[in-house]
Amino acid sequence: MIFYFSGTGNSRYAAMKLAHLTGDRAYDIAKLDPGALPNVGDFNRTGFVFPVYFSGLPAMVREFAREPRVQEALGNYVYCVITCGASAAAADEKLARLLDIELDFSAQVVMPDNYVLMYDPCDPAQARKTLAQADRMLDRIGKDILDGTERSRKNLLKNVMTAVMSPFYDLLRGTKKFSVTDACVSCGQCEANCPQGVIRLRDGLPVWTQRKCQHCTACINRCPAQAIQYGKGTAARGRYSIYNLK
Ligand SMILES: Cc1cc2nc3c(=O)[nH]c(=O)nc-3n(C[C@H](O)[C@H](O)[C@H](O)COP(=O)(O)O)c2cc1C
Ligand code: SF4
Ligand code: SF4
Repeated sequence: MIFYFSGTGNSRYAAMKLAHLTGDRAYDIAKLDPGALPNVGDFNRTGFVFPVYFSGLPAMVREFAREPRVQEALGNYVYCVITCGASAAAADEKLARLLDIELDFSAQVVMPDNYVLMYDPCDPAQARKTLAQADRMLDRIGKDILDGTERSRKNLLKNVMTAVMSPFYDLLRGTKKFSVTDACVSCGQCEANCPQGVIRLRDGLPVWTQRKCQHCTACINRCPAQAIQYGKGTAARGRYSIYNLK
């Protein structure tokens, strides 16, 4: 059993590939009811696949890991694979603490950075190169998981990075700065793609209906008309989503 969370598709891609390599089934955390999880003992392995956010975990993954029903449903071998633009820092240890276990295996996979709210995402040619490397890494990780390899990424510097950076996530994940331009074609994709169900179309235009969101960037990166902006910086930036590359 693999639980995944994804905004722009990198982690979904990684989870689907690992599901294919290991024969396990992948479930989207955003669509799962923890109360309706399969019974403990039905599965040997439990994997968590998600993007690193500010050297820590997406809010939805944190909440999911805290659920008693999730902790009861863990298999004998628990692992996580974290996708990142540069480094997953100690997000794996944060997950382990929330689950109240030691992880058997942990790995990071560098994939194209999607944080357009702060940076210009890499161009499509570079993104394809990074994805090709990620594919090879995922092949190795899939083999390690099948072999039941035990591996920890524990490292003091990574812990410091996570301790310093991760509090900024909750401070910065407001929705107030999102806006929509005249380029909007009212396709409704932003509403459909939001994992938190924050966006509603009113008179054909998106409205952010909650004060805080995951900041997963699915709405802004996947809008086909590039009509969504965040503050002043994003108008001049490109967009990244694996769905637009593949
Ligand atoms: C809110 C936010 C914070 C991020 N913080 C980090 C970070 O601290 N370190 C890093 O290497 N990448 C960071 N990234 C990049 C993503 O982790 C990376 O692009 C990931 O593969 C995206 O996965 P997804 O396509 O499944 O959503 C961040 C992205 C977002 C949206
Ligand atoms: S995805 Fe873009 S074009 Fe479609 S409704 Fe949302 S803002 Fe408008
Ligand atoms: S509003 Fe946009 S950034 Fe926030 S959770 Fe929804 S899709 Fe992600």
